[in-house]
Amino acid sequence: MDTVPPPAAFAKDFLSILDLGHVDFERLLAIAAQMKADRRLGTQAPTATALAGRHVALLFEKPSLRTRTTFEIAIRELGGSALDVPAQFAGGTREPMEDVARNLERWVHAIVMRTFAQKKVETVARAALQMRVINALTDEQHPCQALADMLTALEHWRGQVRGRTIAYVGDGNNTITSLAHASVMLGIRVHVASPPGFELPDRVVEEAAAVARDGAEVRRFTDPADAVAGADAIYTDVWTSMGEEAEADQRRRIFARYQVNERLMAGAAPDALFMHCLPAHRGEEVTAGVIESAASVVFDQAENRLHTQKALLLMLLGA
Ligand code: CP
Ligand code: NVA
Repeated sequence: MDTVPPPAAFAKDFLSILDLGHVDFERLLAIAAQMKADRRLGTQAPTATALAGRHVALLFEKPSLRTRTTFEIAIRELGGSALDVPAQFAGGTREPMEDVARNLERWVHAIVMRTFAQKKVETVARAALQMRVINALTDEQHPCQALADMLTALEHWRGQVRGRTIAYVGDGNNTITSLAHASVMLGIRVHVASPPGFELPDRVVEEAAAVARDGAEVRRFTDPADAVAGADAIYTDVWTSMGEEAEADQRRRIFARYQVNERLMAGAAPDALFMHCLPAHRGEEVTAGVIESAASVVFDQAENRLHTQKALLLMLLGA
């Protein structure tokens, strides 16, 4: 592909991977690969002024290294301006969230939001008729992460993703929800091993079944060894997500059998990748040996946050 294709017609918001149709999703990944190749051109890149005159607000109610940094750089490298909206305005006590949204949309073209309830990003998206809303992680979903994960899988598997299996070991949380949605849309099977009580919700399995391609499906397991048998990648995430800190000790005990270690990796395919959205806790969900091994692509995933979010911004806001 020599040039970036023009933006497709797109849903107003990106609150979930399910907001993308199959065509838009594949297009987004193709644009992301182009963004990655073009980055060396700097200000000479064909998209260096694509967001000129566009303002994007960043409102984060939880900590973030990767998501915030990559969005800020993405906006700047596309010629737009990023501005911080303090989290105190999202509490709903000073004024209703709907009013915050209806104010912001008079000034900015999009908002990137990290919050707790998925309902809050939905409320903002509904209240704002023009402003694009991007989900930068909620308790339920992390769709921007899944975009980068799919670009990383495409790169390492040289475009041959259909029929592969990603085995996720751990909490049935926001990360695996979006990973499951995204993977099956590209024809990748998903195995999820979680302790009882922490399974991926039925709703997510049903949603994935509705968008799956090429026979892909989500299967849930209790035993990590069953889930990873022959898998092409093993993926894990923290046992205690942001907002659940009070449960950390209890979760350490419950998830102890769900560590991705050298023995578990040995049960996957010989060339299996290790994936993690980061931040990682060595000695908990993954051993230092596995995350530092040649199988680990965690920093490729982190890098690809930038390129996939540039593609997303272009598709949502590009001229
Ligand atoms: N993976 C991820 O979203 O990282 P941050 O929480 O640092 O943004
Ligand atoms: N599940 C983790 C992901 C962090 C990027 C959390 O929500 O804290």
